Amino acid sequence: MLKGKNIVIGVNGGIAVYKVVDVVSKLRKLGANIDVIMSKAAQEFVTPLTFQTLSGNFVVTDMFEEPKSWDVKHISLADKADLFLLAPATANIMAKMAHGIADDMISTTIMATRGHILIAPAMNVNMYEHPVTQENVEKLKSFGCEFVDPVEGRLACNYVGKGKLASPDAIVDAVIDYFKKEKDLEGKKVLVTAGPTREAIDPVRYLSNKSTGKMGYEICKMARDRGAHVTLVSGPTHLDKPDGVDYVGVDTAQEMYDEVMKKSEDADIIIKAAAVSDYRPESVFDRKMKKSEDDLSIKLVRNKDILKNLGMNKKHQILVGFAAETNNVLEYAKEKITTKNLDFIVANDITDKNAGFSGDTNVVTIIDKDFNCESYGMMSKYEVAGKIFDKIAKLI
Ligand code: CTP
Repeated sequence: MLKGKNIVIGVNGGIAVYKVVDVVSKLRKLGANIDVIMSKAAQEFVTPLTFQTLSGNFVVTDMFEEPKSWDVKHISLADKADLFLLAPATANIMAKMAHGIADDMISTTIMATRGHILIAPAMNVNMYEHPVTQENVEKLKSFGCEFVDPVEGRLACNYVGKGKLASPDAIVDAVIDYFKKEKDLEGKKVLVTAGPTREAIDPVRYLSNKSTGKMGYEICKMARDRGAHVTLVSGPTHLDKPDGVDYVGVDTAQEMYDEVMKKSEDADIIIKAAAVSDYRPESVFDRKMKKSEDDLSIKLVRNKDILKNLGMNKKHQILVGFAAETNNVLEYAKEKITTKNLDFIVANDITDKNAGFSGDTNVVTIIDKDFNCESYGMMSKYEVAGKIFDKIAKLI
């Protein structure tokens, strides 16, 4: 089931290390290739030989140990990891990750990895519930890390509460789930719009909005990571173009309309995360406008509603819209599902400090065409993208 998957496991100090022995054994039986890195403290609980025997690979214990092959180990393991599993994850390693501290083999490898990171914490309940640990957990989530939450029970320190490492089966299931959904969009063509549009007033001025494009770009990355062929039609943003995605840059709503209409026929899934300007100045001055003593009025005319047009011409495509609102969020979002003929809409309240245009997190409600609502707490925008594609996967 996990044949060919490279999983690097960072084992930190804690009595729960013994449970990770079972995780390694189970993952290997499922066909995964496992590399284990042990912290110094972890070796106080279980010897590297145990993990070496079960994983079938040398266990890395030290940044500067005699190399077994001529490569820079923390980089080669980071590159190799399809998934980095951190178990048990202590408060200390999570704090280091959240603040960019890389001072041993596990923290340097994690910082260099571009693979997905799954974290299974285990610690004393008071440490786990400490605001600083919770803040670090939220921060790591906003970076795209996923968690297998600790469970409640009697802890090794004799406290009762949440802090026990999740069971080996739960951790293995989370790993399987990650790889299962990993490529569920293989063969699908996904068209995404992102960012704002700009409507020129004259050669130096324009009307626009505060969209940064972050949500749409994370949707592209998620679709790509799950195997889709992705085309991004983007308004101007300061973001790097996502790797492995066809990119078309546009400025105005009309340009976005033209590009989207050209590409929509071929798409299986269309997600309109762009904040399109509904109006544009009726006429654009061809020279920079000069001020006068009088007030100025600029007549605005309506732009085409791209999503509504897609909805009217919809054939086989799954159509997803966004509704970024400041008030009556659900009511407005529901109206848009109907008027734009959507399969579902992703609504958010942009007055929420965790859900704005510029942040890395969002707080959304997904509403389907029967007006069933599913609300989620604060998540990274990449995780929100995951929820959107989980929903789409059920519709396909
Ligand atoms: N949208 C679009 N073309 C437009 C306006 C909006 O494709 N000219 C899309 C957006 O990409 C988004 C959805 O429609 O997916 C809702 O956009 P939003 O700006 O929230 O709503 P509007 O339909 O423009 O309505 P209003 O501004 O009155 O809220």
